[in-house]
Amino acid sequence: MGIPQNLIDSAWQSLEASIIQYHDRPVGTLAAKDPAVHALNYDQCFTRDFAVSALAFLMKGEVEIVRNFLIETLKLQSCNKHLDCFKPGQGLMPASFKVETKNEKEYLLPDFGEHAIARVAPVDSGFWWLLMLRAYVKASGDMALAHQLEFQNCIKLILDLCLTSRFDMYPTMLVSDGSYMIDRRMGVYGYPLDIQALFYIALRSARELLVPEDEYITVVDERLGHLVYHLRYYYWLDIDLLNEIYRYRVEEYGPTAVNKFNIYPASIPEWLKEWLPEKGGYFVGNLGPGRMDFRFFAQGNLMAIICKLASEEQSQGIMDLIASRWHSLIGRMPIKLCFPAIDGRDWEIMTGCDAKNTSWSYHNGGNWPFLLWLLAAAGQKTDRADLAERALDIAMTRLYKDKWPEYYDGKYGRLIGKEARKFQTWTIAGVLVAHQLLNNPQHLELVSFDEESAMVSCSLPIPF
Ligand code: GLC
Repeated sequence: MGIPQNLIDSAWQSLEASIIQYHDRPVGTLAAKDPAVHALNYDQCFTRDFAVSALAFLMKGEVEIVRNFLIETLKLQSCNKHLDCFKPGQGLMPASFKVETKNEKEYLLPDFGEHAIARVAPVDSGFWWLLMLRAYVKASGDMALAHQLEFQNCIKLILDLCLTSRFDMYPTMLVSDGSYMIDRRMGVYGYPLDIQALFYIALRSARELLVPEDEYITVVDERLGHLVYHLRYYYWLDIDLLNEIYRYRVEEYGPTAVNKFNIYPASIPEWLKEWLPEKGGYFVGNLGPGRMDFRFFAQGNLMAIICKLASEEQSQGIMDLIASRWHSLIGRMPIKLCFPAIDGRDWEIMTGCDAKNTSWSYHNGGNWPFLLWLLAAAGQKTDRADLAERALDIAMTRLYKDKWPEYYDGKYGRLIGKEARKFQTWTIAGVLVAHQLLNNPQHLELVSFDEESAMVSCSLPIPF
């Protein structure tokens, strides 16, 4: 690797400077440490952001901070059984927390979205928590922690939240807009890919962490099988499938329907007809009744590769797509969170005229360097590490010079994000994890899963 060691050392120093202490022990990392901007809630430890820091620490052999985080956040999990609509539902994990002091005593104050901008509840926190617990166990060998009663209960409460009492009949998870990393209105309600990939990782993690023969395992296995089938079969898009959709019949009723979700060919966007390469493909951003969101979302696609939600062929297909659409997806800074941007009337309606999410900015087509870790993991998983190395080379000097911005703007990521924080922790951690993964592929074990024949019975009959 051609990354100068002094840049890596400096990134480590910045990551360490973001560590939060609680009762004199490291317990998490701040979202950002930018003295020039009002902190809002960036002075808190976000569960999803910390997941990237956690991986960086685990790969370096520093397990204590991750263990502390897991133990303390377990205590924050909502246990509101009393159907109080103003309280988070039982099992929810906080989006973020901060250390407060009262009467000279420290305590942790969680935020389940009740303070967050637009009051968005985090569906993804429990999933990231499971991913971290599994990575911690892999790195430390400390399965005893996961097998403690409190941990087993916590895992089951998260599972209860996703597996029971639903107004739904798909294997995918139904969520409201802005319920995860994209925590603003962006048309990512319904069945967004990013959530489905995380859900799959969470289920697979839970399966490994539950004590053997626990009764939840059968339920988890069954859901995994249906989920993998649903994603591989209905979300996948390549030029052959686009041809099929282009000629779809509509308004089909009953079990023989081919166009199961009643997708109208007229909803295929013009950009896609030119952009989709001959070789390669990807999972579409969302699929529900009468709706296929054709946008490309990097997080879900890369995650699908590392957890084996994607088949081998599909995994290669996603990397082929990234290679052939390098300019639009990587450009001057890896990697677009979502492609392409929405604008005009679509932007007005989908975002509610959100000035932070204008075209090619922030969540709406901005480039997010923290995703480098996923690109590196997916690259290793598919034997395409060269692509990730190229991306890291493009990013590294620039990120260091620009002081680790949160995101970049513009069609090709040439501009530092209009409202991007500097010293954004998961930008720093994302680079460090990518660097570690590329230098030592063994680390992949912490985040990746292999195909398991029982789960990947793609011939499973589905009820519709
Ligand atoms: C923004 C991002 C969110 C992230 C938070 C802290 O709100 O959209 O995903 O967790 O900042 O970095």
